[in-house]
Amino acid sequence: MPGGGAAVSASGMQRGQKSHVVGILMASFAAFGGILFGYDTGVISGIKEMNFWLKTFGYETSPGSGEYTISTPNESLIVSILSLGTFFGALFAAPMADLMGRRWGIIAASMIVFSAGVAMQTAATAVPLFVAGRVFAGLGVGMISCLVPMYQAESSPKWIRGAVVSCYQWAITIGLLLAACVNQATKDRNDFGSYRIPIAIQFVWAGVLSIGMFLLPESPRYLVKRHRFDDAARSLSRLLGVPTEHQDVQLELEDIKANLRMEEEVGQSSYLDCFKMGPNKILFRTLTGIFLQAWQQLTGINFIFYYGTTFFKNSGIADPFLITIATNVVNVCMTIPAFWAVDHVGRRRLLLIGAAGMLVCEYLVAIIGVTISVSNQAGQKVLVAFVCIYIAFFASTWGPIAWVVTSEIFPLAIRAKAMSMTTASNWLWNFGIGYATPYLVNEGYANLQAKVFFIWGSTCVGCLVFTYFCIPETKGLSLEQIDILYQNTTPIKSVAYRNQLIAHDVHVADTDAIHRV
Ligand code: GLC
Repeated sequence: MPGGGAAVSASGMQRGQKSHVVGILMASFAAFGGILFGYDTGVISGIKEMNFWLKTFGYETSPGSGEYTISTPNESLIVSILSLGTFFGALFAAPMADLMGRRWGIIAASMIVFSAGVAMQTAATAVPLFVAGRVFAGLGVGMISCLVPMYQAESSPKWIRGAVVSCYQWAITIGLLLAACVNQATKDRNDFGSYRIPIAIQFVWAGVLSIGMFLLPESPRYLVKRHRFDDAARSLSRLLGVPTEHQDVQLELEDIKANLRMEEEVGQSSYLDCFKMGPNKILFRTLTGIFLQAWQQLTGINFIFYYGTTFFKNSGIADPFLITIATNVVNVCMTIPAFWAVDHVGRRRLLLIGAAGMLVCEYLVAIIGVTISVSNQAGQKVLVAFVCIYIAFFASTWGPIAWVVTSEIFPLAIRAKAMSMTTASNWLWNFGIGYATPYLVNEGYANLQAKVFFIWGSTCVGCLVFTYFCIPETKGLSLEQIDILYQNTTPIKSVAYRNQLIAHDVHVADTDAIHRV
């Protein structure tokens, strides 16, 4: 089965490189969806430590004490339910994207976050409405988490596609950081606005994203799929910054039409086609994508972003909100080297390095957390330092690469459906971990506290083994060359095979060259 990169050619690269400014701006703007994603998922970590929030949704620890807390079942439900909404949102995204287009799909998703999700959470004074609001916000965020990378991949110049996907992950980390900063600014308020301000700020992100998407052109690829060739030419002309009759637009349009013809030859695909066995290893690729996203969540990263403030507070750290900001700054800054590393060091090697680094740090955090007392300031600094190094490993490897790999390993015919399933897998595990964590760490339940890092450290062993056996090296390959690689070698032997593909510049139709490799 041919891949979607068949249209990549030397001339295509040159054309793409000329169109940099508008394409990059467009791609960067769509990544704004990542800010909404990160902010929405991260904001709960601080909110649930705010006294006014606990007063509204929890109960007083002892009558007249003025100290409030929330029950573990409610805490677990409120934190994790967003990810259940996002799971279904990700699954709806593929049919929505085909029905109303990528651009209108993103606008509709922002509206769901805007009107249903955020409005309900802001108005809520009891747990059920707050939970319902988080489900709707989750639905919108789940759709956005699948539609934004799809829109970016279909609309951005080919030569920056890899960086664009990493840029999306970067925006997620910025969203998480913004949430921590807003929480820090409102945490001491003991009035109506305390937690409502951080929640209501999501109106801003959803509003900016929908207005921006309204102004941006629709994905030319979607328009070609709908046989709206004139609209596709207009969209390309805006993206490339040249008139519709310009040869760059016409050549690009021909490339997309050629891809569409290939796709139509393959025929309509169903979700079942994602699980086909055969020489193209479709089943293996789908399972790889689904498991890669699952393992990314099993690194335990969202323990820090959802429960970090609580964890630091329980470890005796004086200003847990500030440390949460610090961990987010590390996350944002350490995603930047990944832009470069993903195409130079390579996906497979980075995932192996990241898993090994996180494994060591997480075991150290667990050991330090278990051995030091809550009054040991020096010990806490070391603990925070290892948490930060662990986040740095995640941010520069597993954070962006899980999204990059799942956006490139699928053949064109099943890409949208397979991507929506892998994104849903990310959210399902996100939900499971978010739900289980309070039961794992809280007093009265498993009460693991820092020992929970022994679990995350051990799952990183799984990440290492999984990467070694299942993730091929795909850096620098076109999407069609990735198809060839899957057909002819195993992930373990992929590094050498990939080097040969690059050295011989092999293309899908070039069967002789494939045999020579
Ligand atoms: C990735 C994960 C997401 C996590 C984020 C942290 O995008 O998929 O769950 O919150 O990284 O940077």
